[in-house]
Amino acid sequence: MIRARTLPLVLALILAGCVSTTPAHSEIPAPTQKAAVTPVPIPAPTVAAIDLTLHSIDDADSLWVVADKLRPIQPKKYVPSGLRTLDVPHTYEPTLRADAAKAYLKMFRAAKNDKVNLVVQSAYRSYSTQVSVYNGWVASLGRKAADLQSARPGYSEHQIGLSVDIASATAGCTIQACFSRTPEGKWLTKNAWRFGWHLRYPNGKTAVTGYKFEPWHWRYVGVELAAELNLTPKITMEEFFGLPAAPDYAR
Ligand code: DAL
Ligand code: ZN
Repeated sequence: MIRARTLPLVLALILAGCVSTTPAHSEIPAPTQKAAVTPVPIPAPTVAAIDLTLHSIDDADSLWVVADKLRPIQPKKYVPSGLRTLDVPHTYEPTLRADAAKAYLKMFRAAKNDKVNLVVQSAYRSYSTQVSVYNGWVASLGRKAADLQSARPGYSEHQIGLSVDIASATAGCTIQACFSRTPEGKWLTKNAWRFGWHLRYPNGKTAVTGYKFEPWHWRYVGVELAAELNLTPKITMEEFFGLPAAPDYAR
């Protein structure tokens, strides 16, 4: 276990070739996708100011659980406990795990105070809902394109109850890259971390996350980790925790 305070020393030893521990980020392979994919710049190692072992990244109940194409939710049909449905503007039911729900409400009110009107497009989705969502995308786009924007059932953060897709009440661009240029998208980019939310699928990180840019998809990780992640532009949870890139499913 490498604790935050010893990380600079360990990194120095690794750079000097003295320690065989796998350094964070080194497991990220060159992109395996088509030639059109731009190589992912590997950010400088992050010297975390927080204890990286504070919460599990494997346990589906954990605030910091990392789910991606190589890390299915355990068990695949996991149902979170303590779901709460909010009384906020929404398209689909605004249900989240209680801690994320509380944080969303706080953020929603702060945004409203700044005349920015957030709408929940989609929040918690059960395994069976994700079956319908994913199959719908496959039917309209084909499996390859669908896999770049929709998680297969058992792999979606929405099933954990900690993620929310947010739209603008007025500006359009719902579930589109241009959402990042709406007042709501800009406000979230600037402020969401203060409420514990992290942009899970940043622009240009498809080779790491396996998904296209999703400026609408926000993952609740708690204020402590969100603040830490916010120090490095476009960092992903995979990079931060030194996990392998997950551009595609194992099989
Ligand atoms: N759109 C994200 C990747 C999901 O389906 O969970
Ligand atoms: Zn989403």
